[in-house]
This record gives sequence, structure tokens and C-alpha cells, in this order.
Amino acid sequence: MLVVLKRDYEEVSREAARIVAGAVRSKPEIVLGLATGSTPLGLYKELIAVHRAENLDFSRATSFNLDEYLGIAPSHPQSYHHFMHQNLFSHVNMPRERIHIPDGTVSGDYDAYCAGYEQAISSAGGIDLQILGIGRNGHIGFNEPTSSLASRTRLKALSRETIEDSRHLFATESEMPKCAITMGIGTILDSRRVLLLACGRSKAAAVAKAIEGPITSSVSASALQMHRDVTFIIDEEAAYSLKQRDYYRHVLEMTQLFTPERLS
Ligand code: PGA
Repeated sequence: MLVVLKRDYEEVSREAARIVAGAVRSKPEIVLGLATGSTPLGLYKELIAVHRAENLDFSRATSFNLDEYLGIAPSHPQSYHHFMHQNLFSHVNMPRERIHIPDGTVSGDYDAYCAGYEQAISSAGGIDLQILGIGRNGHIGFNEPTSSLASRTRLKALSRETIEDSRHLFATESEMPKCAITMGIGTILDSRRVLLLACGRSKAAAVAKAIEGPITSSVSASALQMHRDVTFIIDEEAAYSLKQRDYYRHVLEMTQLFTPERLS
């Protein structure tokens, strides 16, 4: 694992954008795994800026979003469909037909719908680069604590903590979704490269458990310790509880010296 320590949210966003833009340039037909939430907003802003200033071309790229609230239509202002169009897709040239976000209005045979989402990912050639945030409870996507580390895309009940964290987005208690469709931890682990971004003191405990704790379904992000190519990009506040910060800086220096391609 590479742990990249940055000063603040702006630096985290710029570093993530540098890596994503480089990946899109070196493989224009890239398959991106995308995340929502406040953390990747800065990354998307940077990517839009690079698209405008340097013609970063998304015309051959494909994307799969991690998750969507169940029962929330794409047109709902708090839907992840709306978020992605507002904050990225309407500003770059990714073709609509290659944008995939789980459908929160699905009903009936959830398993068949989720199997179809998995099938679409594998038909596209698998995810090359997966962007992740992390929840205070260590979730990635909506893989709440005790999710199977081998889980695939499925219907998932949201934890109390996640519901509390999202409640302010919805006008009334009854509007707050209780479930979501989310890629599984197994789905995420199948991607070729993972970038996890984390900022702020509220994430420090989850980040420390994910990087330095035991692999456990109680902390979904700890499953990333099993991934061959994962980079955590975190700010000082989110790195607060890590014990081996000096070692991560040393690893980064040595990586820059001997295998700089791992950082590009
Ligand atoms: P946030 O959410 O980026 O809004 O903090 C992250 C997550 O819950 O995965």
C-alpha cells in the first residue's frame, strides 16, 4: 500500500486529479470507478479544470459509480445520479451511454439487477481505476461494517451512523433512504488500481484502522490491505491517528527514487 500524506483537502484533490488525469491520458478507453460524497468533489473540480485547460479527453472512457440510494429517482436532488451530473459529467465529454450508476428505483428482483451491474463491469473489461472515499465507520461504497469481504453488487441496509451522516441531505426523516444498491467489497477489490481519499479529523480513526488495523469485516476499508495496488491520499487531519507516518514518507521517497511509475 502507498500512503501519500498531504497537507489539506486542496492538496489531496490535486494529487488525486494528477493521477486520474495521467491514467486517462495513458489509457483513453479507461474504465473508471467513481464515488460520490464531499471528499471527491475537489478531485472532480480539478478534472473539469484540466479538461477545459488541457483538453483532457473522456470521450472513450467508461464509468461505473459505486452506489445509489434505494428509492431515490435519478432526478432527485440528493440522488447520486444528480450529484455526478452536477459535479462532473455535465462538464466533461464522457458519453452518456458509457456512464453507469446503479438505479435506485429498481424494485422486485434486486439480485438480477445487481448481477446485471456486475456483468456490465466485466463486459467493459473491469475497472482500471477505482476512486473511493471512506465513511467514519470505515465503509467503502455502502459496504457497512460486517459486510462480507467477498461481497458483490447488492442491496445493502444502511447503518445507523451512515443514516445519521446523510440525514441533513433529506428534508424529512421519512425521505431518508434506509438502503442502497452498492458495489461489493469483492467488486472493489477486483479493480486494477484503487485510490482512497480521506480528509478531516472525523476520518482519522477509520483511516488508521483501515491501514494499520487487522483485516476485518468490521472495517470494510481494511479489506484494501489485500489489494495489490492501492494508494491512500490523506490530509494531515485524517492521518492524525496513523502510527507510522514517518515510514510512509520514507516509502514514498524510495518509491519516487526507484519505481516512480507507481506514483504516476
Ligand atoms: P464523504 O463520504 O466523502 O461525504 O465524507 C465518504 C463516505 O461515506 O464514503
